[in-house]
Amino acid sequence: MYRSHTCGELSEKHIGQTVTLGGWVQTIRDKGNIIWVDLRDRYGVTQVVAENGKMSDDVISKLKSLGREYVVQITGKVIARHSVNPNMKTGAIELEAIEVNLLNASITPPFTIEDETDGGEELRMKYRYLDLRRNPVQDKLKLRNKVALETRKYLDSIDFMDVETPYLIKSTPEGARDFVVPSRMNPGQFYALPQSPQTFKQLLMVSGFDRYYQIVKCFRDEDLRADRQPEFTQIDCEMAFVEQEDVLKTFEGLIKHLFKTCRGIDFTEDFPRMTFAEAIQKYGSDKPDIRFGMEFVELNDVAKGKNFAIFDDAELVVAINAKGCSEFTRKQLDELTDFVKRPQIGAKGLVYCKCNTDGTFKSSVDKFFDNEALAQWAKSCHAVAGDLIFVLSGNAHKVRSQMNELRLHLGNILGLRKGDEFKPLWVLDFPLLEFDEASGRYHAMHHPFTSPKPEDIHLLATDPGKVRANAYDLAMNGVELGGGSIRIHDKALQARMFELLGFTKEDADAQFGFLMNAFEFGAPPHGGLAFGLDRLVATMGGSDSIRDYIAFPKNNSGRDMMIDSPSVLNKDQLDELAIQTVIATPQ
Ligand code: AMO
Repeated sequence: MYRSHTCGELSEKHIGQTVTLGGWVQTIRDKGNIIWVDLRDRYGVTQVVAENGKMSDDVISKLKSLGREYVVQITGKVIARHSVNPNMKTGAIELEAIEVNLLNASITPPFTIEDETDGGEELRMKYRYLDLRRNPVQDKLKLRNKVALETRKYLDSIDFMDVETPYLIKSTPEGARDFVVPSRMNPGQFYALPQSPQTFKQLLMVSGFDRYYQIVKCFRDEDLRADRQPEFTQIDCEMAFVEQEDVLKTFEGLIKHLFKTCRGIDFTEDFPRMTFAEAIQKYGSDKPDIRFGMEFVELNDVAKGKNFAIFDDAELVVAINAKGCSEFTRKQLDELTDFVKRPQIGAKGLVYCKCNTDGTFKSSVDKFFDNEALAQWAKSCHAVAGDLIFVLSGNAHKVRSQMNELRLHLGNILGLRKGDEFKPLWVLDFPLLEFDEASGRYHAMHHPFTSPKPEDIHLLATDPGKVRANAYDLAMNGVELGGGSIRIHDKALQARMFELLGFTKEDADAQFGFLMNAFEFGAPPHGGLAFGLDRLVATMGGSDSIRDYIAFPKNNSGRDMMIDSPSVLNKDQLDELAIQTVIATPQ
Protein backbone atom coordinates (compact mmCIF):
# COMPACT_ATOMS: atom_id res chain seq x y z
CA MET A 1 0.00 0.00 0.00
CA TYR A 2 1.43 3.35 -1.03
CA ARG A 3 -0.72 5.32 1.38
CA SER A 4 -3.04 4.79 4.34
CA HIS A 5 -4.85 8.12 3.97
CA THR A 6 -5.22 10.93 1.46
CA CYS A 7 -3.84 14.46 1.91
CA GLY A 8 -7.34 15.82 2.49
CA GLU A 9 -8.70 13.67 5.28
CA LEU A 10 -6.60 13.92 8.41
CA SER A 11 -8.16 15.79 11.33
CA GLU A 12 -7.97 16.02 15.11
CA LYS A 13 -9.48 12.57 15.41
CA HIS A 14 -6.33 11.06 13.86
CA ILE A 15 -3.96 12.67 16.37
CA GLY A 16 -1.51 10.09 17.71
CA GLN A 17 -1.89 7.74 14.74
CA THR A 18 0.95 6.79 12.41
CA VAL A 19 -0.12 7.22 8.80
CA THR A 20 1.39 7.14 5.32
CA LEU A 21 0.59 9.75 2.67
CA GLY A 22 1.55 9.99 -0.99
CA GLY A 23 1.49 13.20 -2.98
CA TRP A 24 3.23 16.11 -4.64
CA VAL A 25 5.38 18.66 -2.84
CA GLN A 26 3.56 21.97 -3.13
CA THR A 27 5.79 24.17 -0.99
CA ILE A 28 8.84 23.76 1.24
CA ARG A 29 9.69 26.15 4.06
CA ASP A 30 13.14 25.49 5.47
CA LYS A 31 13.85 27.53 8.60
CA GLY A 32 17.16 25.81 9.36
CA ASN A 33 16.29 23.81 12.43
CA ILE A 34 12.73 23.12 11.34
CA ILE A 35 11.31 22.28 7.92
CA TRP A 36 7.72 22.26 6.67
CA VAL A 37 6.53 20.60 3.49
CA ASP A 38 3.01 20.96 2.09
CA LEU A 39 2.00 17.69 0.50
CA ARG A 40 -0.82 17.82 -2.04
CA ASP A 41 -3.05 15.29 -3.74
CA ARG A 42 -6.52 15.43 -5.33
CA TYR A 43 -8.15 15.53 -1.92
CA GLY A 44 -6.29 18.38 -0.27
CA VAL A 45 -3.04 19.53 1.31
CA THR A 46 -1.40 18.24 4.50
CA GLN A 47 1.44 19.99 6.28
CA VAL A 48 4.44 17.78 7.08
CA VAL A 49 6.96 18.93 9.69
CA ALA A 50 10.38 17.80 10.87
CA GLU A 51 12.57 19.35 13.55
CA ASN A 52 16.35 19.00 13.86
CA GLY A 53 17.28 16.80 16.76
CA LYS A 54 13.78 15.40 17.07
CA MET A 55 13.82 13.52 13.74
CA SER A 56 16.59 11.40 12.28
CA ASP A 57 19.21 13.11 10.13
CA ASP A 58 18.11 10.92 7.26
CA VAL A 59 14.56 12.27 7.38
CA ILE A 60 15.77 15.87 7.65
CA SER A 61 18.21 15.57 4.78
CA LYS A 62 15.66 13.81 2.55
CA LEU A 63 13.09 16.54 3.20
CA LYS A 64 15.70 19.23 2.51
CA SER A 65 16.54 17.63 -0.82
CA LEU A 66 12.95 17.76 -2.10
CA GLY A 67 11.83 20.23 -4.76
CA ARG A 68 8.47 21.52 -5.96
CA GLU A 69 6.27 18.83 -7.53
CA TYR A 70 8.47 15.93 -6.37
CA VAL A 71 6.35 12.85 -5.70
CA VAL A 72 6.95 11.43 -2.24
CA GLN A 73 5.64 8.93 0.23
CA ILE A 74 5.83 10.13 3.82
CA THR A 75 5.09 8.14 6.93
CA GLY A 76 4.58 10.13 10.09
CA LYS A 77 2.69 10.73 13.28
CA VAL A 78 -0.38 12.96 13.28
CA ILE A 79 0.08 15.74 15.85
CA ALA A 80 -1.93 18.84 16.78
CA ARG A 81 -0.75 22.07 15.16
CA HIS A 82 0.53 24.90 17.31
CA SER A 83 -1.33 27.48 15.25
CA VAL A 84 -4.46 26.04 13.67
CA ASN A 85 -5.15 27.15 10.06
CA PRO A 86 -8.94 27.51 9.79
CA ASN A 87 -8.72 27.96 5.98
CA MET A 88 -7.36 24.46 5.46
CA LYS A 89 -9.41 21.28 5.66
CA THR A 90 -6.48 19.65 7.49
CA GLY A 91 -5.52 22.86 9.30
CA ALA A 92 -5.87 21.43 12.82
CA ILE A 93 -3.10 18.88 12.43
CA GLU A 94 0.31 18.29 10.92
CA LEU A 95 2.32 15.20 10.15
CA GLU A 96 5.59 14.69 12.01
CA ALA A 97 7.77 12.88 9.45
CA ILE A 98 9.23 9.51 10.43
CA GLU A 99 10.16 8.16 7.02
CA VAL A 100 10.51 9.90 3.66
CA ASN A 101 10.58 7.95 0.43
CA LEU A 102 11.21 9.80 -2.83
CA LEU A 103 9.05 8.21 -5.53
CA ASN A 104 9.92 10.57 -8.37
CA ALA A 105 11.65 13.89 -8.87
CA SER A 106 10.31 16.76 -10.98
CA ILE A 107 11.94 19.46 -13.02
CA THR A 108 10.82 22.95 -11.98
CA PRO A 109 7.27 23.48 -13.23
CA PRO A 110 6.74 26.44 -15.60
CA PHE A 111 4.20 28.02 -13.22
CA THR A 112 3.23 27.67 -9.60
CA ILE A 113 0.73 24.92 -8.94
CA GLU A 114 -1.43 26.73 -6.44
CA ASP A 115 -4.94 28.14 -6.42
CA GLU A 116 -3.65 31.51 -7.65
CA THR A 117 -1.03 30.73 -10.25
CA ASP A 118 1.44 32.98 -12.04
CA GLY A 119 1.00 31.09 -15.33
CA GLY A 120 -0.69 32.78 -18.29
CA GLU A 121 -3.44 30.97 -20.18
CA GLU A 122 -1.23 29.89 -23.08
CA LEU A 123 1.41 28.39 -20.82
CA ARG A 124 -1.20 26.62 -18.74
CA MET A 125 -2.77 25.14 -21.90
CA LYS A 126 0.60 23.88 -23.10
CA TYR A 127 1.18 22.20 -19.73
CA ARG A 128 -2.46 21.41 -19.15
CA TYR A 129 -1.58 18.27 -17.14
CA LEU A 130 0.12 20.55 -14.61
CA ASP A 131 -2.71 23.08 -14.68
CA LEU A 132 -5.03 20.17 -13.93
CA ARG A 133 -3.15 19.59 -10.66
CA ARG A 134 -4.48 22.90 -9.36
CA ASN A 135 -7.40 22.66 -6.97
CA PRO A 136 -9.73 25.23 -8.63
CA VAL A 137 -9.35 23.40 -11.95
CA GLN A 138 -9.90 20.02 -10.29
CA ASP A 139 -13.02 21.39 -8.58
CA LYS A 140 -14.47 22.31 -11.97
CA LEU A 141 -13.93 18.81 -13.32
CA LYS A 142 -15.40 17.37 -10.12
CA LEU A 143 -18.54 19.42 -10.74
CA ARG A 144 -18.63 18.11 -14.30
CA ASN A 145 -18.29 14.53 -13.09
CA LYS A 146 -21.07 15.03 -10.57
CA VAL A 147 -23.39 16.59 -13.16
CA ALA A 148 -22.77 13.71 -15.59
CA LEU A 149 -23.32 11.14 -12.84
CA GLU A 150 -26.54 12.75 -11.60
CA THR A 151 -27.76 13.06 -15.19
CA ARG A 152 -27.36 9.32 -15.62
CA LYS A 153 -29.05 8.58 -12.31
CA TYR A 154 -32.01 10.83 -13.06
CA LEU A 155 -32.55 9.69 -16.63
CA ASP A 156 -32.08 6.02 -15.69
CA SER A 157 -34.68 6.41 -12.94
CA ILE A 158 -37.27 7.44 -15.53
CA ASP A 159 -36.49 4.67 -18.01
CA PHE A 160 -34.12 6.47 -20.36
CA MET A 161 -31.66 4.09 -21.99
CA ASP A 162 -28.10 4.99 -22.88
CA VAL A 163 -27.44 3.91 -26.46
CA GLU A 164 -24.22 4.70 -28.26
CA THR A 165 -24.33 5.97 -31.82
CA PRO A 166 -21.45 6.03 -34.32
CA TYR A 167 -18.87 8.77 -34.71
CA LEU A 168 -17.94 7.92 -38.28
CA ILE A 169 -21.07 8.96 -40.13
CA LYS A 170 -22.44 10.98 -42.98
CA SER A 171 -23.02 14.70 -42.65
CA THR A 172 -25.83 15.83 -40.30
CA PRO A 173 -27.08 19.31 -41.02
CA GLU A 174 -26.94 21.21 -37.71
CA GLY A 175 -25.79 24.40 -39.33
CA ALA A 176 -22.02 24.19 -38.93
CA ARG A 177 -19.32 22.71 -41.14
CA ASP A 178 -18.40 19.06 -40.69
CA PHE A 179 -15.06 17.66 -39.64
CA VAL A 180 -14.27 14.88 -42.09
CA VAL A 181 -12.23 11.70 -41.87
CA PRO A 182 -10.82 9.99 -44.97
CA SER A 183 -11.60 6.32 -45.46
CA ARG A 184 -8.58 4.15 -46.33
CA MET A 185 -10.78 1.29 -47.49
CA ASN A 186 -12.84 3.55 -49.73
CA PRO A 187 -10.29 5.80 -51.42
CA GLY A 188 -11.54 9.30 -52.12
CA GLN A 189 -14.44 8.91 -49.71
CA PHE A 190 -14.86 10.55 -46.34
CA TYR A 191 -16.81 10.05 -43.18
CA ALA A 192 -18.15 13.10 -41.37
CA LEU A 193 -17.95 13.35 -37.58
CA PRO A 194 -21.41 13.94 -36.11
CA GLN A 195 -22.47 17.50 -35.32
CA SER A 196 -24.95 15.65 -33.12
CA PRO A 197 -26.54 12.17 -33.13
CA GLN A 198 -29.78 13.72 -34.42
CA THR A 199 -30.75 11.27 -37.15
CA PHE A 200 -29.62 8.22 -35.15
CA LYS A 201 -31.71 9.11 -32.14
CA GLN A 202 -34.72 9.53 -34.40
CA LEU A 203 -34.02 6.10 -35.90
CA LEU A 204 -33.87 4.67 -32.38
CA MET A 205 -37.40 5.96 -31.88
CA VAL A 206 -38.47 4.13 -35.03
CA SER A 207 -36.82 1.04 -33.48
CA GLY A 208 -39.01 1.44 -30.44
CA PHE A 209 -36.44 2.54 -27.83
CA ASP A 210 -38.90 5.13 -26.60
CA ARG A 211 -36.59 6.99 -24.22
CA TYR A 212 -32.96 7.41 -25.30
CA TYR A 213 -30.10 9.43 -23.92
CA GLN A 214 -26.40 9.64 -24.44
CA ILE A 215 -23.65 11.82 -23.01
CA VAL A 216 -21.91 12.21 -26.29
CA LYS A 217 -19.15 14.05 -28.10
CA CYS A 218 -20.26 16.27 -31.00
CA PHE A 219 -18.01 17.94 -33.55
CA ARG A 220 -18.59 21.24 -35.31
CA ASP A 221 -16.17 23.17 -37.44
CA GLU A 222 -17.30 26.69 -36.60
CA ASP A 223 -15.75 29.90 -35.35
CA LEU A 224 -14.84 29.49 -31.71
CA ARG A 225 -15.57 31.71 -28.74
CA ALA A 226 -15.82 31.41 -24.97
CA ASP A 227 -18.85 29.11 -25.09
CA ARG A 228 -17.92 27.16 -28.23
CA GLN A 229 -15.44 24.35 -28.74
CA PRO A 230 -14.92 22.33 -31.94
CA GLU A 231 -15.59 19.17 -29.96
CA PHE A 232 -18.03 19.45 -27.12
CA THR A 233 -20.38 17.20 -25.19
CA GLN A 234 -24.14 16.96 -25.32
CA ILE A 235 -26.62 15.36 -23.00
CA ASP A 236 -28.58 14.16 -25.99
CA CYS A 237 -32.14 12.89 -25.45
CA GLU A 238 -35.12 11.70 -27.44
CA MET A 239 -38.58 10.44 -26.48
CA ALA A 240 -41.40 8.78 -28.41
CA PHE A 241 -45.14 9.28 -27.95
CA VAL A 242 -44.68 12.77 -26.59
CA GLU A 243 -45.81 16.28 -27.21
CA GLN A 244 -43.80 19.41 -26.52
CA GLU A 245 -45.19 19.73 -23.00
CA ASP A 246 -43.96 16.23 -22.07
CA VAL A 247 -40.45 17.04 -23.22
CA LEU A 248 -40.33 20.38 -21.38
CA LYS A 249 -41.60 18.83 -18.13
CA THR A 250 -39.16 15.91 -18.29
CA PHE A 251 -36.06 18.03 -18.84
CA GLU A 252 -37.09 20.80 -16.50
CA GLY A 253 -37.11 17.95 -13.98
CA LEU A 254 -33.57 16.98 -14.97
CA ILE A 255 -32.24 20.53 -14.61
CA LYS A 256 -33.93 20.94 -11.22
CA HIS A 257 -32.45 17.62 -10.07
CA LEU A 258 -28.96 18.67 -11.21
CA PHE A 259 -29.09 22.03 -9.45
CA LYS A 260 -30.34 20.42 -6.27
CA THR A 261 -27.88 17.55 -6.14
CA CYS A 262 -24.83 19.33 -7.55
CA ARG A 263 -25.26 22.89 -6.25
CA GLY A 264 -27.77 22.57 -3.42
CA ILE A 265 -30.11 24.98 -5.21
CA ASP A 266 -33.85 24.34 -5.18
CA PHE A 267 -35.99 25.67 -8.01
CA THR A 268 -39.40 25.47 -6.40
CA GLU A 269 -41.34 27.23 -9.17
CA ASP A 270 -41.95 26.13 -12.75
CA PHE A 271 -39.38 27.64 -15.12
CA PRO A 272 -40.79 30.76 -16.79
CA ARG A 273 -41.57 30.60 -20.50
CA MET A 274 -41.49 33.17 -23.26
CA THR A 275 -42.07 32.99 -26.98
CA PHE A 276 -39.20 33.64 -29.34
CA ALA A 277 -41.05 36.70 -30.67
CA GLU A 278 -41.39 38.19 -27.18
CA ALA A 279 -37.76 37.44 -26.31
CA ILE A 280 -36.57 39.24 -29.42
CA GLN A 281 -38.88 42.19 -28.83
CA LYS A 282 -38.03 42.62 -25.16
CA TYR A 283 -34.38 41.61 -25.09
CA GLY A 284 -33.16 41.41 -28.70
CA SER A 285 -31.96 37.88 -27.98
CA ASP A 286 -33.30 34.34 -28.14
CA LYS A 287 -31.45 33.57 -24.90
CA PRO A 288 -32.22 36.54 -22.68
CA ASP A 289 -30.48 37.00 -19.37
CA ILE A 290 -33.46 37.65 -17.12
CA ARG A 291 -31.42 38.11 -13.93
CA PHE A 292 -32.08 41.79 -14.52
CA GLY A 293 -34.79 43.91 -16.13
CA MET A 294 -33.77 46.70 -18.47
CA GLU A 295 -36.30 45.50 -21.03
CA PHE A 296 -36.48 47.19 -24.41
CA VAL A 297 -39.03 49.96 -24.89
CA GLU A 298 -40.04 50.82 -28.44
CA LEU A 299 -40.13 54.59 -28.89
CA ASN A 300 -41.32 54.93 -32.51
CA ASP A 301 -44.50 56.70 -31.35
CA VAL A 302 -42.80 59.36 -29.29
CA ALA A 303 -39.41 59.70 -30.98
CA LYS A 304 -40.33 60.06 -34.63
CA GLY A 305 -41.60 63.23 -36.32
CA LYS A 306 -39.28 65.74 -34.60
CA ASN A 307 -37.09 66.35 -37.64
CA PHE A 308 -34.33 64.15 -36.26
CA ALA A 309 -33.60 62.25 -39.47
CA ILE A 310 -31.75 59.39 -37.77
CA PHE A 311 -34.92 58.44 -35.88
CA ASP A 312 -37.36 59.47 -38.62
CA ASP A 313 -35.65 57.22 -41.19
CA ALA A 314 -35.28 54.28 -38.82
CA GLU A 315 -37.46 51.19 -38.86
CA LEU A 316 -37.19 50.99 -35.08
CA VAL A 317 -36.25 53.38 -32.29
CA VAL A 318 -35.63 51.37 -29.16
CA ALA A 319 -34.63 52.37 -25.63
CA ILE A 320 -33.53 50.87 -22.34
CA ASN A 321 -33.64 52.44 -18.93
CA ALA A 322 -30.50 52.18 -16.80
CA LYS A 323 -32.01 52.77 -13.40
CA GLY A 324 -30.19 55.17 -11.10
CA CYS A 325 -27.45 55.94 -13.64
CA SER A 326 -28.16 59.62 -14.39
CA GLU A 327 -24.87 60.56 -12.78
CA PHE A 328 -22.83 58.73 -15.43
CA THR A 329 -19.91 60.94 -16.43
CA ARG A 330 -19.06 62.19 -19.89
CA LYS A 331 -16.24 59.63 -19.93
CA GLN A 332 -18.58 56.76 -19.09
CA LEU A 333 -21.02 57.85 -21.78
CA ASP A 334 -18.20 58.12 -24.33
CA GLU A 335 -17.03 54.65 -23.41
CA LEU A 336 -20.51 53.24 -23.94
CA THR A 337 -20.75 55.02 -27.28
CA ASP A 338 -17.41 53.53 -28.30
CA PHE A 339 -18.68 50.15 -27.14
CA VAL A 340 -21.73 50.15 -29.43
CA LYS A 341 -19.65 51.53 -32.31
CA ARG A 342 -17.21 48.60 -32.20
CA PRO A 343 -17.25 46.86 -35.60
CA GLN A 344 -18.64 43.63 -34.16
CA ILE A 345 -21.63 45.57 -32.78
CA GLY A 346 -21.89 48.13 -35.54
CA ALA A 347 -24.09 50.96 -34.20
CA LYS A 348 -23.47 54.40 -35.70
CA GLY A 349 -23.93 56.20 -32.40
CA LEU A 350 -25.72 56.15 -29.07
CA VAL A 351 -28.33 58.63 -27.89
CA TYR A 352 -28.80 59.15 -24.16
CA CYS A 353 -31.20 61.07 -21.98
CA LYS A 354 -30.43 61.75 -18.33
CA CYS A 355 -33.44 62.12 -16.05
CA ASN A 356 -32.02 64.67 -13.67
CA THR A 357 -32.94 64.65 -10.01
CA ASP A 358 -34.46 68.17 -10.36
CA GLY A 359 -37.01 66.85 -12.86
CA THR A 360 -35.29 68.23 -15.97
CA PHE A 361 -33.78 66.17 -18.76
CA LYS A 362 -30.42 66.34 -20.46
CA SER A 363 -30.01 64.46 -23.70
CA SER A 364 -27.48 64.19 -26.48
CA VAL A 365 -30.23 65.29 -28.91
CA ASP A 366 -31.52 68.37 -27.04
CA LYS A 367 -31.54 70.27 -30.35
CA PHE A 368 -34.44 68.14 -31.58
CA PHE A 369 -36.20 67.13 -28.38
CA ASP A 370 -37.34 69.62 -25.77
CA ASN A 371 -38.02 68.84 -22.14
CA GLU A 372 -41.61 67.88 -22.89
CA ALA A 373 -40.59 65.45 -25.64
CA LEU A 374 -37.98 63.89 -23.40
CA ALA A 375 -40.54 63.61 -20.61
CA GLN A 376 -42.53 61.43 -23.01
CA TRP A 377 -39.55 59.16 -23.54
CA ALA A 378 -39.16 58.89 -19.81
CA LYS A 379 -42.84 58.06 -19.37
CA SER A 380 -42.66 55.31 -22.00
CA CYS A 381 -39.54 53.90 -20.34
CA HIS A 382 -40.99 54.12 -16.81
CA ALA A 383 -37.94 56.24 -16.04
CA VAL A 384 -37.89 58.43 -12.95
CA ALA A 385 -35.53 61.11 -11.68
CA GLY A 386 -32.05 59.62 -11.40
CA ASP A 387 -32.45 57.23 -14.34
CA LEU A 388 -30.58 57.20 -17.62
CA ILE A 389 -32.17 56.26 -20.95
CA PHE A 390 -30.19 54.90 -23.88
CA VAL A 391 -31.64 54.94 -27.39
CA LEU A 392 -30.56 53.19 -30.59
CA SER A 393 -32.29 53.30 -33.96
CA GLY A 394 -32.09 51.63 -37.36
CA ASN A 395 -33.07 48.37 -39.02
CA ALA A 396 -35.20 46.50 -36.46
CA HIS A 397 -33.21 43.27 -36.57
CA LYS A 398 -29.83 44.98 -36.33
CA VAL A 399 -30.82 47.53 -33.73
CA ARG A 400 -32.26 44.87 -31.43
CA SER A 401 -29.10 42.87 -31.59
CA GLN A 402 -27.01 46.01 -30.86
CA MET A 403 -29.25 46.92 -27.94
CA ASN A 404 -28.90 43.37 -26.62
CA GLU A 405 -25.12 43.83 -26.51
CA LEU A 406 -25.45 47.17 -24.77
CA ARG A 407 -27.92 45.77 -22.25
CA LEU A 408 -25.63 42.86 -21.37
CA HIS A 409 -22.63 45.17 -21.17
CA LEU A 410 -24.49 47.50 -18.80
CA GLY A 411 -25.60 44.47 -16.81
CA ASN A 412 -21.92 43.54 -16.40
CA ILE A 413 -20.78 47.07 -15.54
CA LEU A 414 -23.57 47.55 -13.00
CA GLY A 415 -23.02 44.14 -11.39
CA LEU A 416 -26.52 42.96 -12.29
CA ARG A 417 -25.36 39.61 -13.70
CA LYS A 418 -24.61 37.91 -10.43
CA GLY A 419 -22.60 34.70 -10.55
CA ASP A 420 -24.58 33.01 -7.80
CA GLU A 421 -28.01 33.70 -9.28
CA PHE A 422 -29.57 31.29 -11.79
CA LYS A 423 -32.52 32.29 -13.97
CA PRO A 424 -33.77 29.62 -16.36
CA LEU A 425 -36.12 30.52 -19.19
CA TRP A 426 -37.81 28.31 -21.77
CA VAL A 427 -37.93 30.09 -25.11
CA LEU A 428 -40.71 28.62 -27.27
CA ASP A 429 -42.18 28.86 -30.76
CA PHE A 430 -39.02 29.49 -32.72
CA PRO A 431 -39.57 30.22 -36.40
CA LEU A 432 -39.25 27.07 -38.51
CA LEU A 433 -37.12 28.78 -41.16
CA GLU A 434 -34.89 31.77 -41.51
CA PHE A 435 -34.17 33.49 -44.79
CA ASP A 436 -30.53 33.70 -45.72
CA GLU A 437 -29.93 36.80 -47.83
CA ALA A 438 -26.56 35.59 -49.07
CA SER A 439 -27.85 32.37 -50.64
CA GLY A 440 -31.38 33.70 -51.26
CA ARG A 441 -32.74 30.56 -49.59
CA TYR A 442 -34.47 29.45 -46.45
CA HIS A 443 -32.47 27.60 -43.82
CA ALA A 444 -33.89 25.49 -41.02
CA MET A 445 -33.62 27.56 -37.87
CA HIS A 446 -33.14 24.47 -35.69
CA HIS A 447 -32.63 21.58 -38.11
CA PRO A 448 -34.60 20.11 -41.03
CA PHE A 449 -36.30 17.47 -38.88
CA THR A 450 -38.19 19.98 -36.75
CA SER A 451 -41.95 19.95 -37.17
CA PRO A 452 -43.96 23.06 -37.99
CA LYS A 453 -46.81 23.94 -35.64
CA PRO A 454 -49.88 22.20 -37.11
CA GLU A 455 -51.84 25.47 -37.11
CA ASP A 456 -49.10 27.12 -39.22
CA ILE A 457 -48.66 24.36 -41.83
CA HIS A 458 -50.96 26.18 -44.28
CA LEU A 459 -48.43 29.04 -44.36
CA LEU A 460 -45.72 26.75 -45.76
CA ALA A 461 -47.01 27.41 -49.28
CA THR A 462 -47.72 31.14 -48.92
CA ASP A 463 -45.43 32.64 -46.30
CA PRO A 464 -42.83 30.10 -45.08
CA GLY A 465 -40.96 32.71 -43.03
CA LYS A 466 -44.01 33.08 -40.76
CA VAL A 467 -44.30 29.39 -39.90
CA ARG A 468 -43.56 28.69 -36.24
CA ALA A 469 -41.93 25.43 -35.17
CA ASN A 470 -42.50 23.14 -32.25
CA ALA A 471 -39.00 24.07 -31.18
CA TYR A 472 -37.71 25.20 -27.81
CA ASP A 473 -34.52 26.28 -26.08
CA LEU A 474 -33.62 26.42 -22.44
CA ALA A 475 -31.72 29.63 -21.71
CA MET A 476 -30.08 30.48 -18.41
CA ASN A 477 -28.29 33.69 -17.48
CA GLY A 478 -27.93 34.64 -21.16
CA VAL A 479 -26.57 31.24 -22.22
CA GLU A 480 -28.34 28.76 -24.49
CA LEU A 481 -28.04 25.62 -22.38
CA GLY A 482 -29.98 23.38 -24.71
CA GLY A 483 -32.54 23.10 -27.42
CA GLY A 484 -34.74 20.67 -29.22
CA SER A 485 -37.98 20.13 -31.03
CA ILE A 486 -40.86 17.85 -31.82
CA ARG A 487 -39.85 16.08 -35.01
CA ILE A 488 -41.53 15.47 -38.29
CA HIS A 489 -42.43 11.76 -38.41
CA ASP A 490 -44.25 11.75 -41.70
CA LYS A 491 -42.35 11.03 -44.90
CA ALA A 492 -44.37 13.42 -47.06
CA LEU A 493 -43.97 16.38 -44.71
CA GLN A 494 -40.25 15.64 -44.33
CA ALA A 495 -39.88 15.57 -48.12
CA ARG A 496 -41.73 18.90 -48.33
CA MET A 497 -39.38 20.38 -45.78
CA PHE A 498 -36.31 19.31 -47.75
CA GLU A 499 -37.88 20.85 -50.84
CA LEU A 500 -38.43 24.16 -49.02
CA LEU A 501 -34.80 24.10 -47.95
CA GLY A 502 -33.76 23.89 -51.59
CA PHE A 503 -32.84 20.18 -51.77
CA THR A 504 -33.64 18.43 -55.05
CA LYS A 505 -35.45 15.13 -54.58
CA GLU A 506 -32.26 13.31 -55.61
CA ASP A 507 -30.12 15.23 -53.09
CA ALA A 508 -32.62 14.65 -50.31
CA ASP A 509 -32.75 10.93 -51.15
CA ALA A 510 -28.97 10.65 -51.34
CA GLN A 511 -28.43 12.40 -48.01
CA PHE A 512 -31.46 11.41 -45.98
CA GLY A 513 -33.09 8.55 -47.85
CA PHE A 514 -32.36 6.24 -44.89
CA LEU A 515 -34.44 8.43 -42.57
CA MET A 516 -37.33 8.96 -44.96
CA ASN A 517 -37.41 5.22 -45.68
CA ALA A 518 -37.47 4.51 -41.96
CA PHE A 519 -40.49 6.77 -41.63
CA GLU A 520 -42.37 4.35 -43.90
CA PHE A 521 -42.05 1.56 -41.35
CA GLY A 522 -44.20 2.98 -38.60
CA ALA A 523 -42.41 5.95 -37.06
CA PRO A 524 -43.97 7.01 -33.75
CA PRO A 525 -44.48 10.67 -32.93
CA HIS A 526 -41.29 11.79 -31.22
CA GLY A 527 -39.26 14.73 -30.00
CA GLY A 528 -36.34 15.56 -27.79
CA LEU A 529 -33.58 17.94 -26.98
CA ALA A 530 -29.90 18.21 -26.24
CA PHE A 531 -28.16 20.17 -23.52
CA GLY A 532 -24.60 21.35 -23.98
CA LEU A 533 -22.92 19.65 -20.99
CA ASP A 534 -19.93 21.99 -21.09
CA ARG A 535 -22.18 25.06 -21.05
CA LEU A 536 -24.45 23.62 -18.40
CA VAL A 537 -21.56 22.88 -16.05
CA ALA A 538 -19.83 26.21 -16.71
CA THR A 539 -23.10 28.05 -16.01
CA MET A 540 -23.64 26.05 -12.84
CA GLY A 541 -20.09 26.95 -11.82
CA GLY A 542 -20.80 30.64 -12.48
CA SER A 543 -18.37 30.95 -15.41
CA ASP A 544 -18.75 32.19 -19.01
CA SER A 545 -15.94 30.07 -20.37
CA ILE A 546 -16.51 26.38 -21.05
CA ARG A 547 -12.78 25.79 -21.54
CA ASP A 548 -12.10 25.59 -17.81
CA TYR A 549 -14.61 22.77 -17.51
CA ILE A 550 -13.02 20.62 -20.23
CA ALA A 551 -9.97 18.59 -19.26
CA PHE A 552 -8.13 19.10 -22.53
CA PRO A 553 -9.69 22.02 -24.44
CA LYS A 554 -8.62 23.67 -27.68
CA ASN A 555 -7.70 27.31 -28.08
CA ASN A 556 -9.58 29.85 -30.19
CA SER A 557 -7.80 28.72 -33.35
CA GLY A 558 -8.97 25.17 -32.71
CA ARG A 559 -5.48 24.05 -31.67
CA ASP A 560 -4.58 21.72 -28.86
CA MET A 561 -1.51 23.54 -27.56
CA MET A 562 -0.35 20.59 -25.52
CA ILE A 563 -0.20 17.88 -28.18
CA ASP A 564 0.28 20.48 -30.92
CA SER A 565 -2.59 19.44 -33.11
CA PRO A 566 -3.77 19.68 -35.86
CA SER A 567 -0.58 18.73 -37.64
CA VAL A 568 0.50 17.56 -41.07
CA LEU A 569 0.42 13.86 -41.93
CA ASN A 570 3.52 12.13 -43.19
CA LYS A 571 3.68 10.97 -46.77
CA ASP A 572 3.15 7.29 -45.94
CA GLN A 573 -0.07 8.03 -44.13
CA LEU A 574 -1.30 10.19 -46.98
CA ASP A 575 -0.35 7.57 -49.57
CA GLU A 576 -2.25 4.92 -47.64
CA LEU A 577 -5.30 7.15 -47.74
CA ALA A 578 -4.74 7.88 -51.42
CA ILE A 579 -4.63 11.59 -50.63
CA GLN A 580 -2.42 14.30 -52.04
CA THR A 581 -2.49 17.68 -50.37
CA VAL A 582 -2.38 21.00 -52.11
CA ILE A 583 -2.88 23.97 -49.84
CA ALA A 584 -5.37 26.13 -51.68
CA THR A 585 -6.12 29.68 -50.61
CA PRO A 586 -9.42 29.51 -48.70
CA GLN A 587 -12.25 31.10 -50.69
P1 AMO B 1 -28.19 22.40 -30.91
O1 AMO B 1 -27.45 22.60 -32.18
O2 AMO B 1 -29.05 23.52 -30.41
O3 AMO B 1 -29.19 21.17 -31.04
O4 AMO B 1 -27.17 21.97 -29.79
C1 AMO B 1 -27.61 21.66 -28.49
C2 AMO B 1 -26.75 22.34 -27.46
O5 AMO B 1 -25.38 22.01 -27.61
C3 AMO B 1 -24.57 23.08 -27.17
N1 AMO B 1 -23.62 23.45 -28.22
C4 AMO B 1 -22.30 23.70 -28.03
N2 AMO B 1 -21.57 23.71 -26.91
C5 AMO B 1 -20.25 23.98 -27.03
N3 AMO B 1 -19.62 24.22 -28.19
C6 AMO B 1 -20.33 24.21 -29.36
N4 AMO B 1 -19.69 24.42 -30.52
C7 AMO B 1 -21.74 23.96 -29.30
N5 AMO B 1 -22.73 23.87 -30.22
C8 AMO B 1 -23.86 23.57 -29.55
C9 AMO B 1 -25.48 24.23 -26.81
C10 AMO B 1 -26.75 23.86 -27.55
O6 AMO B 1 -27.89 24.39 -26.93
N6 AMO B 1 -29.62 17.82 -32.39
C11 AMO B 1 -30.07 19.05 -31.78
C12 AMO B 1 -30.82 18.83 -30.50
C13 AMO B 1 -32.22 18.29 -30.69
O7 AMO B 1 -32.94 18.80 -31.57
O8 AMO B 1 -32.60 17.37 -29.95
C14 AMO B 1 -28.86 19.94 -31.51
O9 AMO B 1 -27.71 19.53 -31.61
O10 AMO B 1 -25.69 24.23 -25.41
